[in-house]
Amino acid sequence: MIICKRLLYLIQSDTSKMCTIAPRGKSSKMNLEMEFEKLQTSNSKSLLKKYLTPEIFHKLKDQKTQMGSTLMDCIQSGLVNHDSGVGIYAADADAYTTFADLFDPIIDDYHKGFSKNKVHPAKDFGDYKKLGNLDPEGKYIKSTRVRCGRSIQGYPFNPRMTVEHYKEIEDEVSKTLTSLEGEFKGCYYPLTGMAKQVQEQLINDHFLFKEGDRFLQAANACRFWPTGRGIYFNNDKTFLIWCNEEDHLRIISMQQGGDLGDVYRRLVTGVNEIEKKITFSHDNRLGFLTFCPTNLGTTIRASVHIKVPKLASEQQKLYNVADKYNLQVRGTTGEHTDAVDGIYDISNKRRLGLTEFQAVKEMYDGITEIIKIEKDL
Ligand code: ARG
Repeated sequence: MIICKRLLYLIQSDTSKMCTIAPRGKSSKMNLEMEFEKLQTSNSKSLLKKYLTPEIFHKLKDQKTQMGSTLMDCIQSGLVNHDSGVGIYAADADAYTTFADLFDPIIDDYHKGFSKNKVHPAKDFGDYKKLGNLDPEGKYIKSTRVRCGRSIQGYPFNPRMTVEHYKEIEDEVSKTLTSLEGEFKGCYYPLTGMAKQVQEQLINDHFLFKEGDRFLQAANACRFWPTGRGIYFNNDKTFLIWCNEEDHLRIISMQQGGDLGDVYRRLVTGVNEIEKKITFSHDNRLGFLTFCPTNLGTTIRASVHIKVPKLASEQQKLYNVADKYNLQVRGTTGEHTDAVDGIYDISNKRRLGLTEFQAVKEMYDGITEIIKIEKDL
């Protein structure tokens, strides 16, 4: 049943029909040329502004992907939010090819040296036993989390998804997950009909995504909310899957404390199980395909919630180590937030051009150094 609908969608993927089956959000009424002018004269620091030169803009502005996605579909978030760090999303898998003149330099810049002729290595989770506990004394690390993103093959990304796509994906994902066993056994909770209180509790515990991220909203990624959105978790709440938030799937392993080895082991085992049942979009050059170009390749984000009050009062030192080890420093409650009480969310920044194991190892080495510096201050 699911397969039939998907095939039908692919057969129908003619541009004129696409517009009627995948309605655009209000930002589509923006005038592309005018918004481009505004971005150019703004003081935006986004990678979109840096690489969308007039020459590239004129070359790409009338191009469309096979599914009918336009330049506007990809850059509207960056046009609305001049404070974006990146400012671009792929409206469908093909967008990475059709708009390569813009995506390639942005990908190269973000992932620190993934030039056009580079090819992402084959998937290699490596040996989790080589990663230990980052903070055996439990003094600095509150919790550890490793996640990856996956897109289901044959479906477009958010701006091109119909309400049926959201429902079909939720159906496929929840069915697959409820067949998991052992430490992965759990339940799927759709957002539709979830009590506000339960939802808020899950968000406060850092289990569930927030609603209404303005960057995603402007990217047309929140249509039909909460349809098709939901969360799965095992009984211990250490293995979670987000359905249809930014990506079709976000697979997450997390627990209190600093045992990165155990968190990574659980993620790898869980992903391997799910990959036996669902086929994900993968590209020879870019690895696993995700909505946001920052997540391409391994899609791995390995992070800790770490309390480093001394480094917090000498922030430049923190940023210097972060730079040296390719780490990204976020505030206490994640992206686009501030640090409270010297608690940061620190993760690997690069996900493309290195293996899964190397991506996690970059975080491991960087956090080891951060703890060492904090101890010595
Ligand atoms: N589009 C946002 C920006 O450019 C987020 C980029 C990375 N984060 C993400 N959740 N994909 O700042």
